[in-house]
Order: sequence, then C-alpha cells, then structure tokens
Amino acid sequence: MSAVATARVLEHRDFGGGYRYLRLKAPEVACLVKPGQFIHLRVPQLDGRILRRPFSIFQADNLTLAVLYKVVGRGTRAMLHIVADDELSIIGPLGNGFPELGDSNYPVLIAGGFGVAPLYLLAKRMAATGTLFVGGRGSDDILCKELFEQLGWQVEVATEDGSRGIKGYVTTALDCWLKARPADRKPPEFFVCGPEGLLRAIGERAVAENFTAWLSLDKHMGCGVGACLACVQKIRTADGEIVLKRVCKDGPVFEAAEIVWD
Ligand code: FES
Repeated sequence: MSAVATARVLEHRDFGGGYRYLRLKAPEVACLVKPGQFIHLRVPQLDGRILRRPFSIFQADNLTLAVLYKVVGRGTRAMLHIVADDELSIIGPLGNGFPELGDSNYPVLIAGGFGVAPLYLLAKRMAATGTLFVGGRGSDDILCKELFEQLGWQVEVATEDGSRGIKGYVTTALDCWLKARPADRKPPEFFVCGPEGLLRAIGERAVAENFTAWLSLDKHMGCGVGACLACVQKIRTADGEIVLKRVCKDGPVFEAAEIVWD
C-alpha cells in the first residue's frame, strides 16, 4: 500500500562527506514504511520530463521519514534549494522492501556508500543484531557507523584509499570475515545495497556458497510506480524461465539467485 502525500520539510542539512539529510513530516506515508522501500519525490524547481526522483528511506516513524542523498546531478542539485517548511509532493512507500531474516540465519548487511541508508532502517527494525560491512572510496563515504554500533551491530569498514578501516573493497573485508568464521556458526544471510558492481560481487559469492542474499537494485527510474518500464531487470523464475520485472514495483529487492545480470 502506498499514498500520494504533501510532505512538510522538517529538516534539510549537511550530513558530512558531501551527503545531505532530508526529514519530512508525512504521516500517511511514514506509518506504512518497511525497510528497503523508497519514496518518489517531486523535486521543486526542476524542469524537464522526469520531475521525480527515487530515494531509499533511511528513517521512519509514525509521523516522519528521512532520506540521505548526495548531489550527483541536475535533480539532486535542484534539491539544495529545499528549506524547512517547504511542502513537497511524495509518493510512497514504494517497492517491496527487504524480507524477514530467516530463523536460523545470521544477519550480514553490506553497503556501498549511502547504501547504508535503507540498511539502517532494516537494522533498527530487526530483532537480531549482526555485522555490517560498509565500504566506500574514502572516509567521507563511510556513513552512520556509530548509529549501527549504538544498535549493537558489529561494523567492519573498508575504504579504497585506506583512509578508514581496511584498505580495499568491502568484499575484501567480507571475504576475510567469511574465511575466519567458525564452520559451526549460523549461515549468514546477506542484505545488500550499493552500486551494481558490489551487488554482483556479493550475489556471485552467495550463489557459489549457497547463502541467501537480498540485493536492492538501483536502476534508472521514470514513473516509479510500474507504468513506464524504464527500470526492468531480467529475472529467472522458479521454473527457469527468464522474465522482465520492474525494479520499482516488483523490486527493488530481489534474491541473488534469481537475478540474470547483463
Ligand atoms: Fe516506471 Fe519502473 S520506473 S516502471
């Protein structure tokens, strides 16, 4: 279930490292949010065919929700003009979100950059605690480490330039951890959000090792509600047929074994 709502801006500020934090009062949407879902936000002062942009939901309670974003293009640059008390049109929550953790599994969250945003809401709502692996180019890209630690999660950091945590990709840190993990431990279940290279790398490991991995796909979107087919992804069904699914409506979260990468 989702709603179209007028959201009031409560807070819009720098979040460090070039990232921005936007908190909205939108009770009709916020109370429905499941971790991994997103909103489609109409960006004010943006001309052109696509006026809305998708944002993963970082925080939500019964009245408010918040997103994190980085200024990367025309749409997000236009968002810099948003100030407290502005009213924004949003549609949401959209998409399927992450499923429940399997009973006998150990939760492992894996994020690239601000992929931590939806994983933080997931960690907050999960009954169990586990390990978060977070990676980025440099220390500025490592967000929310302390927030996860406050929830009781173990956090492993990797940066490509070595400025924080181990030097390398987040998969380097994950591989070390998997190798050192005692064999009698619960099998890990991966929940992943980040760039496609990271999703593919984790998906390949999960399929090879027979672990479950839930990947939140990031595709270019148009309508955000399943109508325009701008966001399709090849998916292998249980009987082996390959079909096209809409990331905005049928996803964004898919199990690694069902994704057919181009
Ligand atoms: Fe239009 Fe997904 S963005 S169908």
